[in-house]
Amino acid sequence: MKILVTGGAGFIGSAVVRLAVRRGHEVVNLDSLTYAANLENVTPVSNSPLYAFEQADLRDRAALDRVLATHKPDAIMHLAAESHVDRSIDGPGDFIETNITGTYNLLEAARAYWAGQGKPESFRFHHISTDEVFGSLGDEGQFTEDTPYDPRSPYSASKAASDHLVRAWHETYGLPVVLTNCSNNYGPFHFPEKLVPVVILNALHGRPIPVYGDGGNVRDWLFVEDHADALLLVLEKGELGRSYNIGGENEAKNIDLVRTICAHMDELRPQNAPHDKLITFVTDRPGHDRRYAIDPTRIRTELGWRPSVTVEEGLRQTVEWYLANEAWWQPLLAREGVGQRLGRA
Ligand SMILES: NC(=O)c1ccc[n+]([C@@H]2O[C@H](COP(=O)([O-])OP(=O)(O)OC[C@H]3O[C@@H](n4cnc5c(N)ncnc54)[C@H](O)[C@@H]3O)[C@@H](O)[C@H]2O)c1
Repeated sequence: MKILVTGGAGFIGSAVVRLAVRRGHEVVNLDSLTYAANLENVTPVSNSPLYAFEQADLRDRAALDRVLATHKPDAIMHLAAESHVDRSIDGPGDFIETNITGTYNLLEAARAYWAGQGKPESFRFHHISTDEVFGSLGDEGQFTEDTPYDPRSPYSASKAASDHLVRAWHETYGLPVVLTNCSNNYGPFHFPEKLVPVVILNALHGRPIPVYGDGGNVRDWLFVEDHADALLLVLEKGELGRSYNIGGENEAKNIDLVRTICAHMDELRPQNAPHDKLITFVTDRPGHDRRYAIDPTRIRTELGWRPSVTVEEGLRQTVEWYLANEAWWQPLLAREGVGQRLGRA
């Protein structure tokens, strides 16, 4: 299959690109290369004859038309987005333009392209979204695909809007879509402004490890390579118009996750142990959702998918990867906003 992956220079998109090429798919990576992008994320496959890169912006409809006409993909996997909640608090405009207007442009470009191809039923537009659209849970319960939307940050509101657009393009124009909403990802190639790499790198450098609020916020942690595997499965086997929640079956409080990373660091860098002495509680993020949890029943029963690693195993691999790949993360620390406290409103 020839797949157009948007956002393939980002964290999850690059995992999809690497896995899809390894499985023999042709991949066109469309990315505008924002601050969050890094083409080194796809170095393992970038010399493959199956791989092509197009620098293009979702906000530029003509560019999207050109890429589709040039490459004639069988499917689109749409991951490009502004993705950092803290940045959405400081500057929501980019989130509206890329996540909402950009998705609208891509849907319209895809619809025109699909119609021009004779509306093949086999075409797929796979929209990748987040569990944050469902809002915040109390101590009990899990998000199912039928949980009402209740987004509470500019980021999650922009993703919710994009989900609604994708469903509307299916109902109104018959565009063959599938959707997925996943929980928090972690793993190799994660941009060093997100919790897991921040903890690893601050522990490594002996700097304070910031934990928002009381550290009691619960997330369901999904290893990025498991996520990429689930996304390709949904693309190939998912039912048209249907959405699938993807979780790691690994709920953890932020503070417990941070302590687990510190314990791995203690083993791998014993000279600086104990690393948890660096934990520093800082002012909470405004509107910080308390708990997310995914009910994975649909993807498990209908598509037979389950995550392959526990959060302990995945975190161990991730810590080892960061310790072995300083050449990857070191240059990223100089990018705008990295290492600063963002999103205090
Ligand atoms: N990271 C997570 O834990 C998580 C969880 C749930 C859902 N998601 C969703 O998964 C997708 C990928 O997330 P990620 O963590 O890999 O994000 P990321 O920030 O690492 O990567 C996003 C990529 O999109 C590109 N991009 C941004 N704006 C663009 C534009 N206007 N035109 C073209 N390209 C543009 C960036 O250059 C970057 O390469 C997003 O849609 C996000 O909402 C992520």
